[in-house]
Amino acid sequence: MSRSAKSDSMSGRSRTGLPATLMVFMVALAALLAALLPSLSLAQTAAVKERKIERYPGIGRIATPAEVKAWDIDVRPDFKGLPAGKGTVAQGQEIWDGRCAMCHGTFGESNEVFTPIVGNTTAKDMERGRVASLNDNKTPQRTTLMKVATVSTLWDYIYRAMPWYAPRSLTVDETYAVLAYILNLAEMVSDDFVLGNDNIASIQARMPNRNGMTREHGMWSAKDKPDVQGDSCMNNCKPFITIGSVLPDYARDAHGNLAQQNRPWGPYRGVDTTQPPLQLLPADAQKGLGIAPAVPENPSMRIVR
Ligand code: HEC
Repeated sequence: MSRSAKSDSMSGRSRTGLPATLMVFMVALAALLAALLPSLSLAQTAAVKERKIERYPGIGRIATPAEVKAWDIDVRPDFKGLPAGKGTVAQGQEIWDGRCAMCHGTFGESNEVFTPIVGNTTAKDMERGRVASLNDNKTPQRTTLMKVATVSTLWDYIYRAMPWYAPRSLTVDETYAVLAYILNLAEMVSDDFVLGNDNIASIQARMPNRNGMTREHGMWSAKDKPDVQGDSCMNNCKPFITIGSVLPDYARDAHGNLAQQNRPWGPYRGVDTTQPPLQLLPADAQKGLGIAPAVPENPSMRIVR
């Protein structure tokens, strides 16, 4: 035993110069603190949440983890968030015919005013990843498959929002099935195709407009400038601005008389599309665009300020 060690042990002091009993106590204290720390930080988080609630006293409460989980359903382009499952084209056809076709058309072409989902894409588009018909201006209304660049968006949107009258009513497998049928209508997959989380990436590689997405459109990055034109009016402002809606000639009466299909009360009534346009906007006169007549003032609808 060296001299110093001997004297250390004899004097009952540790190498740090602290009495051994105190040293034992400190180690115990450190262990206790370490054990307490997680609960301390939990208590802190709770305090932060409390403060947030205090900002709006009497309004709301913190969502439970189960509630957050139920809302957290987004599916990203890299398929993060996509639940596992599968569905066949045949199952999808049944769902489509029963729950989707009445609005989007038997073949996804849209029989009435609802969004056309399928049409105007070719095998060549699938190869290139760009849709040629987007540039020929022959389709008055562009189909979803012409525009959408990511198949994850279709899955996500259908699962969260469709059918329109009952969003979130489709199961995961039903969503795969109905999407498989849509892809089949678009001639992207065969009749016996089974779409699932394990092969959806192969569909992405064939999406007709997968290379058509751009961020170079000025709305993504406004480069610190406002993304709209205009000055806020501070004096001599117009008290009221009339907004008119324009119906292109080819759309006039294309779906029957819009006046008959809209409510006869309230500020938005359909224009009688069996009649020729009443007025032309001066700027649109050469284009042949007719403007819907301004709605006659209805005293019962006046907003009291
Ligand atoms: C009651 C009519 C109705 C039914 C039934 C319906 N949809 Fe829709 N769908 C709509 C409307 C309206 C929109 C556009 C909604 C919007 O833009 O907010 C839409 C949008 C969509 C879109 C996105 C289109 C786009 O280009 O943005 C898809 C995909 C879609 N529906 C699929 C389905 C599927 C699949 C079903 C059946 C499970 C279904 N829809 C049932 C009315 C309907």
